[in-house]
Amino acid sequence: MLVLGFESSCDETSVSVSKDGKTVLSNVVLSQIDIHKAFGGVVPEIASREHVKGITYVLDEALAHAGVKAEDIDLVAVTQGPGLIGSLLTGINAAKAFAFVHQIPIVGVHHIAGHIYANQIEDDLVFPLICLVVSGGHTELLLMKEHFDFIKLGETQDDAIGEAYDKVARVLGLGYPGGPMIDQLATQGKSSYPMPKVETQGRYDFSYSGLKSHVINTLNRLKMKFEPVIKEDLARSFQEAAIEQLLIKSELAVKNHQAKMFMVAGGVAANSYLRQRVFDVFKDVHVSLPKMEYCTDNAAMMGIAGYYQYQKYGQKAAMSLNGDSRLKLH
Ligand code: KG4
Ligand code: ZN
Repeated sequence: MLVLGFESSCDETSVSVSKDGKTVLSNVVLSQIDIHKAFGGVVPEIASREHVKGITYVLDEALAHAGVKAEDIDLVAVTQGPGLIGSLLTGINAAKAFAFVHQIPIVGVHHIAGHIYANQIEDDLVFPLICLVVSGGHTELLLMKEHFDFIKLGETQDDAIGEAYDKVARVLGLGYPGGPMIDQLATQGKSSYPMPKVETQGRYDFSYSGLKSHVINTLNRLKMKFEPVIKEDLARSFQEAAIEQLLIKSELAVKNHQAKMFMVAGGVAANSYLRQRVFDVFKDVHVSLPKMEYCTDNAAMMGIAGYYQYQKYGQKAAMSLNGDSRLKLH
């Protein structure tokens, strides 16, 4: 089965062709990062316009790279939400137009389901599994007992981890997107600044606003006293505290649910410290990390997730499919 995937929930316009929920034949990603950099973050109105400008070229290129014709496609899968509504609608309208013209079934897929299924490209999912979702908008621990079955064990009580990375990067003057910059800077520093201990209500919950505020307060205090700030060390101290919190809760979830696999999904899965530390912590369970190119937003992961969703639920919405900026996974 050939699946045409579409992703346009934020600042990447992407179209892919994948086969049988596994093999990626093409994955074209047009990033708007350079355009939004000047503003220090994604500007929704500009993002929508850029998606409109790029989508048909990206679609043509995805088909050409895969060496397939429009008539060969069996299913269209598109990100339905969550995300920026104007951005989502561009991908959804392009996907619906393609499906309508070629009379192909279409499914709307949750963006985080896509991030989760990015792991299926490398490793076959083995159940029960624990998935740690870490992105710009999500920080949660999920239990999966079978395909497309997402049981939430816990989540952030305040900020998402990616959000905290981006904010800390901004106050350190590192630019956008902040996550990769902090990650890079942290490799040159040591963990010399004390960070607060995090308390959460649920045992699988997370919290990042306290840690974020603590870094901002540390920075302000040092500046007021005209004391030097060792940015590398502050980045390192923040990074270790942020990631260790993830590991402690993940380890507990894996143990308590006798998971056979532990997966990380979402943009923060690209973090070098996290990618290294998971192998120290999980020695008796299969660890699955998405390939670097599939950590950030892309349509390949949406096509793979769409394949499994369609196998389980079939087509639900077809031409009435609409974007949902707050779509729920559970
Ligand atoms: O998955 P994603 O595109 O966001 C949502 O779907 O919500 O991930 C983007 C997030 C941003 O916050 C970015 O700063 C963070 O992932 N990120 C990283 C790294 N690369 C991207 N955070 C930490 N370390 C990285 N290497
Ligand atoms: Zn994403």
